[in-house]
Amino acid sequence: MKLLFSSIIITIFLISSCIESTQKRYQTNLESHNHSFSNFEEVTPTHLYLNLIADFDKKVLKGFAEWDIVPKVGAKKIILDIKDLVIIKTEVDGDIIDFSLSGENEILGSGLIIPITDKTQKVKVFYETSTNAEAIQWLTAEQTGGKPFVYTQSEAILARSWIPCMDIPALRFTYNAIIKCPKDLLPLMSATNPQQKNNESVYHFEMSKPIPSYLMALSIGDLVFAPLGEKCGVYAQPSLIEDCKIEFVDLDRMIKTAESIYGQYRWGRYDILVLPASFPFGGMENPRLTFATPTIITGDKSLVSLIAHELAHSWSGNLVTNRTWDDFWLNEGFTVYFESRIMEKLYGKDFVEMTDKLALDELKNTISEMMLTQPNDTRLFLDLKGRNPDDGMTDIAYEKGHFFLLAIEKQVGRERFDIFLNQYFNHFAFQSINTQTFINYLEENLLIQYPGSADSIGVNEWIFEQGLPINCPTIHSAYLYSVDSLIQDLIAGTKLEKSMFNHWTTHQYLYFFRNLPRTYYLSHMDDLDFIGNFSNSKNAEIACDWFKLCIRSNYLKASPSLENFLIKVGRRKFLEPIYKELLSNPEWNNFAKQVYSNAKKGYHSVSNSTIQEIMKAKFGTNY
Ligand code: BES
Ligand code: ZN
Repeated sequence: MKLLFSSIIITIFLISSCIESTQKRYQTNLESHNHSFSNFEEVTPTHLYLNLIADFDKKVLKGFAEWDIVPKVGAKKIILDIKDLVIIKTEVDGDIIDFSLSGENEILGSGLIIPITDKTQKVKVFYETSTNAEAIQWLTAEQTGGKPFVYTQSEAILARSWIPCMDIPALRFTYNAIIKCPKDLLPLMSATNPQQKNNESVYHFEMSKPIPSYLMALSIGDLVFAPLGEKCGVYAQPSLIEDCKIEFVDLDRMIKTAESIYGQYRWGRYDILVLPASFPFGGMENPRLTFATPTIITGDKSLVSLIAHELAHSWSGNLVTNRTWDDFWLNEGFTVYFESRIMEKLYGKDFVEMTDKLALDELKNTISEMMLTQPNDTRLFLDLKGRNPDDGMTDIAYEKGHFFLLAIEKQVGRERFDIFLNQYFNHFAFQSINTQTFINYLEENLLIQYPGSADSIGVNEWIFEQGLPINCPTIHSAYLYSVDSLIQDLIAGTKLEKSMFNHWTTHQYLYFFRNLPRTYYLSHMDDLDFIGNFSNSKNAEIACDWFKLCIRSNYLKASPSLENFLIKVGRRKFLEPIYKELLSNPEWNNFAKQVYSNAKKGYHSVSNSTIQEIMKAKFGTNY
């Protein structure tokens, strides 16, 4: 009897703990991982007046940030995030009030605590940035090959290194800014922008739509503007503007195409700013003004999908925003999906089959690598507590997110899915939502009409479990299969000829390099380079994949070009795999150290921290 009783108890316990554990596993945390010291539950900042002078000699921004705030009843303080800011003084409704600091954390910075009452309307912080502000890169005239330049990169949590703010994507505010800069330079922001320099060198900006702090952006340089349509255009340094006009000639059509899929573009103008090559990302979706790397200017428009991506963020990300960085896939997965929809409409199915196939191959590689070291990071819904949100910027958010949405599309049909997404963007416009809110909305507004579909799609599996679900769509690309058959011929002994590459696009080359067997390229590097002149390629995507083969096969002839590439280009997507490759081959270790010691002064802090981490893991010391 006793035995029976206790086994019943054990069974009940097992069942209930089992239920509990599934529930737990699928429960999204709400606001716990916000990577911020701010007391956003007590006080809401609604509008920012930013007034800064850019001092290029001292390499600092100096001035004030004044916040309109709405405190909850009983609020006694406001806490803003800051990192490496020199706080000069703080004012509350016009009176100087002493502040204090809390925290001090290597990743998060610290909290700036200012006493207020629940009647307070304005807090004003006078401050100066430090020369090592993580968001900011100052470039000298030598580094730009023209005039000095400065730009910021705020995503994910770097806004706090140039503006005292509640630095969380869950909050939104509008802003006005006044920027003073040297006479011969033009400042631009994620706001209304000037199209030419003025005599006073003081510029006014306004962003009248509420945005999260990670979309705050400033750039100052010798910039000129070229219109590309009634409501769009491009800014670049004078030496590059003509090439930009050619590369982005389809911009106006691209915007109209995007609007035809998910509804009106809500931000007024859409301009592109082409930055110096040290920009650590491909692009950054700063509202009204996408920041872009010059490495997409190839002359053949083959890399403009990056612009489609940043433009797509005007819906996914800027209009409907991830509530915490654990929900980052809501920004990026949706954007990659939308990007490929835009590209398909503009350039056809064949094109997108190529990019999708390359992306899926990469995703599978990434997942198998990550399963060995950080399997939990292969889940769409992340757990970044105590970590740098930058750790979430992997193929998972982008491509696993993209293929998840494609799996839903396949299940319900494109037409129905588009109706749902239009509705989703309208329903949550100018809001920040988390993964659970998306799941509920998906179930209530789409899947409910298809009984059993949540299970057959495997919504929970995609979002909360590791790896790649078996219903991940497969991709076939005729253009890439033609590359496969060339590879087969080469292996069988056919001689390499220039004509074999006739009419190839960037993506065919990438597929070629990624699928060429080691046994083949080890003994054909000279031939390949002679025929394709890849070591001198002006196309950074092609150059990057080629350099990886050069390192693996000890093709030393490419080392001068590789060195130039690493000095000139600061885009982390290229630097990270190249430095990893260099460090995994002992023959190239010294080259890596020596080149990095020269190159690092030209990299943005985002790229430097990644490379330093790789170097440290290999050599055990800081470089
Ligand atoms: N928003 C990202 C860049 C980003 C993400 C910066 C997280 C900091 C933290 C941007 O939209 C992006 O995804 N850029 C990609 C473009 C690519 C996927 C087309 C890049 O930079 O490579
Ligand atoms: Zn993106």
